[in-house]
Amino acid sequence: MLSTPRTHVWMLCLVTLPPMASVYLLKNSHYDLSTPNLLVHLVILALWLFSMNNIVYEHYFGPLSDVPMAGGDWFVLGHTPYIFGNIQGLPYLKLVNNMKLDHRGVFRVKGIFHLGGQLVLTAPETINEALNSHCYDYVKPPKPIAFLSRIIGNGLIASEMAEHKAQRKAVWPAFQGHMIRELVPDMWRKSFEFADVIASETDRETAMLEFNGIVSRATLDIIGVSAFGKDFQTLYNSDNRLASVYKKAFDPTPDIIRYFATSMVLPSFMGPWIPMSGNRKITVDSMVMKEQCAQLIAENRAALKESGDGRPDILSLLLKTDLSDEEILDQMLTFLGAGHETTSSASTFAVYLLATHPDIQHRVRKEVRETLSKYRPEELTMQVLDSMPYLAAVASEALRVWPTVPVTSRVAVKQTTIAGLNIPPGTHVSIAPITIHRLESLWGKDALVFNPDRWLDPSNTVPGGSTHPLAYIPFLTGPRACIGQVFAKAEMRCLLATYVERFQFEMFDPNEELSVAGVITIKPRELKLRITDLGSSLKA
Ligand code: HEM
Repeated sequence: MLSTPRTHVWMLCLVTLPPMASVYLLKNSHYDLSTPNLLVHLVILALWLFSMNNIVYEHYFGPLSDVPMAGGDWFVLGHTPYIFGNIQGLPYLKLVNNMKLDHRGVFRVKGIFHLGGQLVLTAPETINEALNSHCYDYVKPPKPIAFLSRIIGNGLIASEMAEHKAQRKAVWPAFQGHMIRELVPDMWRKSFEFADVIASETDRETAMLEFNGIVSRATLDIIGVSAFGKDFQTLYNSDNRLASVYKKAFDPTPDIIRYFATSMVLPSFMGPWIPMSGNRKITVDSMVMKEQCAQLIAENRAALKESGDGRPDILSLLLKTDLSDEEILDQMLTFLGAGHETTSSASTFAVYLLATHPDIQHRVRKEVRETLSKYRPEELTMQVLDSMPYLAAVASEALRVWPTVPVTSRVAVKQTTIAGLNIPPGTHVSIAPITIHRLESLWGKDALVFNPDRWLDPSNTVPGGSTHPLAYIPFLTGPRACIGQVFAKAEMRCLLATYVERFQFEMFDPNEELSVAGVITIKPRELKLRITDLGSSLKA
C-alpha cells in the first residue's frame, strides 16, 4: 500500500482540485459556455481522467498496488531525486534500509508528478527471474537505447529478442575462455606500456599523476589490439581522434546532456532530427567511428584473404562467421563502447580503493612482485594471472564495492511474473548492483567494507561469502549478461598488476572526497595520486 502521508495529500489534490476548478468556473456569473470556455473544461476533464487512471488507479487499485512503496518521496518529484541521484542506483540502498521488505525484496518508486513508477528488485531470487528465466519478457528501455545505439551501433547491447539471440550465438565463440586466453599476452604487453607512460607523464616535481585519463587510453588500446588486431596508440597520443570521440560519448559535455534530455521526452524516431548542437556532434562523431571501423574491417578482411588463419583477435574470428560486414561493424562499435570505459572505470575504482587502503596495496604488491620476478615480460600469460589469487580478490572486491554499471533497467513487453506478482506489460523494472552489493542482509555486517579477503575464505559456500551467488552481479546474469566478462577480468588484473608492481601510491590530497561521475557507467571524476616509481621486478 502507499506509505507516505504526502502521497495521500497529492492524490487528494488530483481527485478533487480539477472538478472543483470546473465547478467554480461554471458557477461564475460572468462565465458562459462559449467555445473557448468549453475547451478549458474539456482540457480539465482530460487531465482529470488521465490522472485518475495513471496516478490514482495505478497507485491504489492497479495490479502492483500491493507492492510496498518506498518512503521518502517528494511532493511533486516523487522519487525522481533517488532515481536520478548523483550516483545512480545507490540511493536505493537508503530506501531499502528504511523499509521492511518481505522475502520477495521488491518495492516501488514513482516518477515526477507520481507518474511512471517502477519496481526495484533487491532479492537474488527475483533478480534471477527477471534476468534469467524470464529474460526475454523484457526489453531495455527503448529511448535511452535508441540514443546509445547512435554511438555504439545496433550490436548486442541495442538488439532485442530473436535478433539478440541470433547475434549472441554468432558472437559468443569469440568470447569463450580459451579465446580470451590467447589475447592475454597482448594485454600484458599493453599494460607494461601503460606503466611506462605513467612514469613519463607523472609530474616530476610533485609526483602527481591523474590516473583516470591514462588508464582510459590504455583500455582503448587494449580493446583495439584484442578486438581489431590494431594498436590505436592512444597511450602515446592523447589527441587521437577515436579517443576524443569516445571521451565525448562517455564523458558528455553539457550540450550532449541537453540533447540527451530532450530526446528522452520526444518520440525515439525524432532523435536524429532534433536541431541541437549535441545532436550534430553525435552525428559527426558516429560517422567518424563508423568510417574508422569500416576501414579496419576492410583491412582485416583483405589480410585474412591473403594470409589465411592466424590472428586470434575478435574481428578475425567474426570475419569467419556468416555475419555481414555491416553486422560486424555494429558489433565492433559495441565492443569499443562497452569494452573500454567499463574496464578503465573499474580499474580506476580499484586503484582508488588501494590508494586509501595502504595495507591491502602493500599485500597485493608483494604477491605481484614475487610472482612477476620469475618471468620475462614475453613469458606472461593467463596462467601467470591465475597464479595471483590476492590480485583476483582485489579486482572482484573493487567491482563489488563500485560496480561500474551501477544500475540497469528493463521494461516488460508482455504479461509476466516476478515472485508470483503479476507484472503487466509496460512495467519498468530496476536492478541496482551497487545497492545489492552493499546489502547487509546478503553480505553481512561488513558489507560496506573493502575486504578482498572475503573472496579467499575457503569456508565460503558462495564465492565472496554472500548468502546467494546472485548477490554479486557486476556483469549481471542470464542471456544478456556481459559477454566480455572473462576479457574484462583478465584485462583489469593485467592493468592492476603492472601498476602496483611498479608504483607505490597514495591520494595526492588525502582529504579529498571521492567524486563519482557518469550516467550509464560510473567512474571517479578524477583520481589524483602521489606516486613513487619502484622500478620493475621482472626478470631481465
Ligand atoms: C569491468 C568491465 C565491465 C563491466 C563492469 C561490464 C558490465 C556489463 C553489464 C552490467 C552489462 C549488462 C548491461 C545491461 O544489460 O544493462 C554488460 C553488457 C555487455 N558488455 Fe560488458 N562490462 C565490462 C566489460 C566489457 C568488455 C571488456 C566487453 C567487450 C570486449 C563488454 C561487452 C559487453 C557487451 C557486448 C554487452 C551486451 C551483452 C548482451 O546484451 O548480450 N563488456 N556489461
